[in-house]
Amino acid sequence: MATSLTKLPAWQDLERHRRAVSGTHLRQLFDQDPERFGRFSLRLDGMLLDFSKQLVTKETMRLLVALARECRLEGSIRSLLAGERVNFTENRAALHFALRAERPVLLDGRDVTRDVAAVLAKLRAFSEGVRSGEIKGASGQHFTDIVNIGIGGSDLGPALACEALAPYAIPTLNIHFASNADGHAIAAVLGRLDPGRTLFIVASKTFTTQETLANASTARDWVAAKLGIGAAAAHFCAVTAAPERAAEFGIAAQRVFEIWDWVGGRYSLWSAIGLPVALAVGMDHFDALRAGARAMDEHFATAPLERNMPVAMGLLTVWYADFHGTASTAVLPYDERLRLLPAYLQQLEMESCGKRTTRDGGVTDYATAPVRWGTTGTNGQHAYFQLLHQGTHVVPADFIACCEPHHRLPAHHDILLAHFFAQTEALMRGRTEKEAEGEMRADGLDPEEIRRLLPHRTFPGSRPSTSILLRKLDPGTLGALIALYEHKVFVESVIWNVNAFDQWGVELGKRLADRVLAELADADPVSGHDSSTNGLINHLKAVR
Ligand code: F6P
Repeated sequence: MATSLTKLPAWQDLERHRRAVSGTHLRQLFDQDPERFGRFSLRLDGMLLDFSKQLVTKETMRLLVALARECRLEGSIRSLLAGERVNFTENRAALHFALRAERPVLLDGRDVTRDVAAVLAKLRAFSEGVRSGEIKGASGQHFTDIVNIGIGGSDLGPALACEALAPYAIPTLNIHFASNADGHAIAAVLGRLDPGRTLFIVASKTFTTQETLANASTARDWVAAKLGIGAAAAHFCAVTAAPERAAEFGIAAQRVFEIWDWVGGRYSLWSAIGLPVALAVGMDHFDALRAGARAMDEHFATAPLERNMPVAMGLLTVWYADFHGTASTAVLPYDERLRLLPAYLQQLEMESCGKRTTRDGGVTDYATAPVRWGTTGTNGQHAYFQLLHQGTHVVPADFIACCEPHHRLPAHHDILLAHFFAQTEALMRGRTEKEAEGEMRADGLDPEEIRRLLPHRTFPGSRPSTSILLRKLDPGTLGALIALYEHKVFVESVIWNVNAFDQWGVELGKRLADRVLAELADADPVSGHDSSTNGLINHLKAVR
C-alpha cells in the first residue's frame, strides 16, 4: 500500500486543499473563527493540548482523518493492542502498553501481564530494600549512589524520568547515568563516587551493546580494584532480555530483572528499565507514572480519531512533512526538569520513523520523520528563536509547560509562562509593516531610520505551534505525556507505512566500527577503506 499512499483519494484531496489554503495566514484563521481554540484543543486528565495555532482548518483535519481511515489506522491500532507481530522485520509484537496494562494482554495465548507483574514485584522488593538500606554493599555499607549503565532506550527514558521527577526523589540516593563509549563519561562518574556505597545497574536489552559492556567492565574492574574481586557481585544488578549473558558477566540471577523481546528499547521505560526511577522516587510513584501512560493508552484506544490526542499530533506531523515540505520540528519544554525530553524524543521519533523502506519493501515517494530538535525555553529564545521567527525555514514547534511549579520562588513561574504564551502568540501573529512602523514611531525613531529598519523589524508570522499544558509535572502527567508521543509516532508510522519498531539503520555503522577497532590495535597503516577513512585512521596512528 505504501508506494500508492500518494495516490490515495484523501492524499490527493489534501494536496488540492493545501494549494487552496496556501496563502492563508494564521491570523486570518483566528479572526474568522472565534471558537478556534475550543475547536482545536483537547483535554485529558491533567493535560491540555492546544493545536489551534497550527495551520489547519476544519477541512484540513477532516481530510487528515480521512487519510488516516484510508490508511486503516483504526485497524492498525487494534492490531497493535491485540498483540499482533506488528514488528514484522523482527517477527515481534510491540507490547509496551502491556507493561502498564491492568487487563490481560495475550501474546500467543499467554497473558504477558502476569510476567510483567512478577518482575514488578521483584523490582519493588529490590528498590525498597536499597532505599531502606536493607540491601547493602559488600562491606556492609548502604548504597548512596546508583549508576545506570545503558545507552539509547536503556538510558534516555530513565534519565528523563529521574530528572523530571526529582521533587519526588529521596535525598539519600543519587542517581547517575553513564552511556557514552567515551571513557571521559564513566571516568567522570566514578571519579566522584565511593565504591563501597555504589550500586551499578547494567541496563541492556540485548546485553551485547559495546558501549554498555565497555562501561560495565570498567565499573566492575573499578569495584574489584577498590574492594576486591569477590565484592563486585554485591554492587551489580542487571536489566536484560538475555539473563544468560548477564550471568556470564557475573551478575547473580536474583539481581537480574527481566524484560522481553516484545519491549522495544525506546519504549522500555515502563519495564524494569525503569529501575533507576523506582529507586529514585519509589515504586508507588513508578506505578503512578505507568498509570498516567495507561490513561493515555485508554484514550488512544477508545477516543474517536477526530478527538484523539496522539492521532491529532501524528496527523499534524504528516501534514507538515508531506504537504509543506517541513524538514524539522522543535520541542521546547518551558520546564528545566524536562531538559532531556528533546533527546528522548529524538530517539523515539527518529529511530522509529526515520525510514524510507515501506512495509512491503518498496521505497517511499514521500517524506517521513522530520528531524526533531530543541532545548528548554526560555534558553532557546536567546539562541535560535531568531530563526523560528524570521528565518527561511518554517519549524512547527511543540511548546510544553506546567501550570504549577514545585518550587516556591516568587515571580519565576509567571515570567516563564509569560514567555511561553508570548512566543506562541508572536510566532502565530508575526508583526506587519504597519505595526512595526507604529512601534518605531512610538519609540521616537526618525522617518529615515524607520524606512531603513522596517524590513528587519517585520515578522512574517503564521509559524505554527502546539501548546501542551500539564497541570503539574507529577508521575501521572509525565507518564501520559510520554505515552502521547509514543502513540503519535505509531500513528505516523501507519500513515507512512513503515515499521516503527525496528532500527536496522543503526547496524551498518556498528559493523564497520568492529572492523576499524581491530585495525586500531596496531601501528600498521591501513589501505582497505576509501581515501578519507584511510587518511583519518593513518593520521591517528601517526600522531599517537
Ligand atoms: O543501537 C540502537 C539500539 O538498539 C537502541 O534501539 C537501543 O535502545 C539501544 O541500542 C540499546 O540497546 P540495548 O538495550 O540492547 O543495550
